Amino acid sequence: MLLLSVRPVLGRMAFSLTSSASSRGLKTLKIGLIPGDGIGKEVIPAGRHVLEALPAEDGLKFQFVDLIAGFECFKATGVALPEETVKVLMEECDGALFGAVSSPTTKVAGYSSPIVALRKKLGLYANVRPVKSVGDDRPVDMVIVRENTEDLYVKEEKIWTLEDGTKVAEAIKRITEKASYNIGKIAFDLAVQRGAARSTSSIPTLHPGCPIVTITHKSNVLSTTDGLFRETVRKVYEDNVEKYAGVNVQEQIVDSMVYRMFREPEIFDVVVAPNLYGDILSDGAAALVGSLGVIPSANVGDTFVIGEPCHGSAPDIEGKNIANPIATIRSTALMLEFMGYAKPAARIHAAVDAHMVEKKISTPDLGGTATTIQVTEDIIKRL
Ligand code: NAI
Ligand code: MG
Repeated sequence: MLLLSVRPVLGRMAFSLTSSASSRGLKTLKIGLIPGDGIGKEVIPAGRHVLEALPAEDGLKFQFVDLIAGFECFKATGVALPEETVKVLMEECDGALFGAVSSPTTKVAGYSSPIVALRKKLGLYANVRPVKSVGDDRPVDMVIVRENTEDLYVKEEKIWTLEDGTKVAEAIKRITEKASYNIGKIAFDLAVQRGAARSTSSIPTLHPGCPIVTITHKSNVLSTTDGLFRETVRKVYEDNVEKYAGVNVQEQIVDSMVYRMFREPEIFDVVVAPNLYGDILSDGAAALVGSLGVIPSANVGDTFVIGEPCHGSAPDIEGKNIANPIATIRSTALMLEFMGYAKPAARIHAAVDAHMVEKKISTPDLGGTATTIQVTEDIIKRL
């Protein structure tokens, strides 16, 4: 299992399986599926199949609702994120899985990334991205906790032309105390929970000492914006010294963070960062464990969670049935974990780890020749 449920943070979402599953049969969870574009359409079915294959002893069954969003949706309907998709998620679903969407690198009038909008609309303020090696790979076991709603992703950009005819473009980088505090709490809670899980586990750990939270920023230059992020995350610790007593708080300026993450990734435990740095760091961290195709994430708020692979729509491999489904399958486990269903989540993580250790059936990004479907089937066999 990559990390524990953040039940204390997600108090409203967590509920006990014992009463619902044992006395009234299986509990049904309604899961929204938003494949989006490109390989999103190939990997989301893998997540669905894995959920459907969970044994009854885990106490869950699933109902799925197909929802649309993305660039293709925009081209077909004129809207990237239909109101109906948001409404169904908010009013009917217990959780959701999101694949990926294509966002053109040049401006397309009226189009804006639906996942960025969805994170804001559903208050999913944290993007939790565990990066863990398995087997004999270079040892890595960290979680990148990325702020999910602000920073440069407020997308307030403008462009104008100077008198000499040259253009100037400007973007707002907004950091709020509230979002920084929220993300700091998630980071420290995760650090404590990871530390507690390690202390009771017989599995050798990379982090035998106290849990570490590394605050990543660039407040040597951006002393106001990143300065507020840094101070506020530190304040989370100071306000809760007893609760976080055993946590070692460290800081790393983002450029040297990249350097150290590649030189000595094994030293990092929980890394907390503003939105853009967190996005960049997690794609970089993916390279340490072989492929972007194995890194999951959970978009987490107080009342909802969306599992989402860290990768994009990968147009270069779209339609070939070679996309690695592991990031999505792990994201389904993360989704369950954050909903309070630790047992099936652990089962999925264990099946993926066993599959990866064996290294027999792998998609081309991990050096193999297997298809998306073959990898999914092999993981399902191990559940
Ligand atoms: P990407 O993550 O789609 O692909 C980067 C590289 O990793 C490609 O070589 C791709 O083939 C490979 N890759 C990614 N996922 C893989 C998987 N599951 N299995 C095997 N190989 C995999 O990033 P890129 O190429 O920069 O962006 C493509 C599109 O995706 C863009 O339109 C971008 O805006 C969008 N995107 C969407 C995201 C989202 O929906 N959350 C996140 C990142 C990018
Ligand atoms: Mg990214």
